[in-house]
Amino acid sequence: VGEENAEYLLSLIRTIPGFPKEGINFRDFMPVLADAKGLSILIDALAKSLPVSPDEIDAVAGLESRGFLIGVPLALHLGKGFVAIRKAGKLPPPTKRMEYSLEYGTAAIEVEDQAIRPGERVLVVDDLIATGGTAQAAEKLIQEHGATVAGFSFVMELTGIPTPASISRHKRSSLLTMP
Ligand code: PRP
Ligand code: ADE
Repeated sequence: VGEENAEYLLSLIRTIPGFPKEGINFRDFMPVLADAKGLSILIDALAKSLPVSPDEIDAVAGLESRGFLIGVPLALHLGKGFVAIRKAGKLPPPTKRMEYSLEYGTAAIEVEDQAIRPGERVLVVDDLIATGGTAQAAEKLIQEHGATVAGFSFVMELTGIPTPASISRHKRSSLLTMP
């Protein structure tokens, strides 16, 4: 990212203690999107710090909902298509579903069967990785389609929380790390 850009992005991220549950320090990156310079730095930095070369990526997948906000502009920037990994119950059938737990609860995500083709190499994009539960569920879903995760791109990574082994094995990049 470069130190100056990282500092600029960090200055825009809001921390809300106790949301959505006691004990959670919620990291809100919406002010980055609301700031024209911040938005431009963010998408540019994500594209420049990909965990793999762009030729090793066939599609970009975003995790609902914050992953959508960066996944689409990043896919456009890279000249790739975008795949929506949605919270359960939103997509028309046929879909595949995966249940998981995250830092402050449990949830399930789904992908339309036709959205990911066998053999595709998919870059998974999200605003933040905490426990990695969401990212791991996304990887399992992508694998159920006969495809593979080319890598993970995150804006923020929370330190001090162990990440599932399958995520560390993969190539991943995070623009900012914070407790
Ligand atoms: C947040 C965040 C990641 C996930 C990370 O999403 O955007 O997707 O939690 O947590 P984990 O690493 O512990 O799994 P959330 O489910 O709150 O949904 P949202 O994007 O719709 O706000
Ligand atoms: N998703 C999981 N943990 C989070 C946190 N601390 N802040 C924002 N989003 C999150």
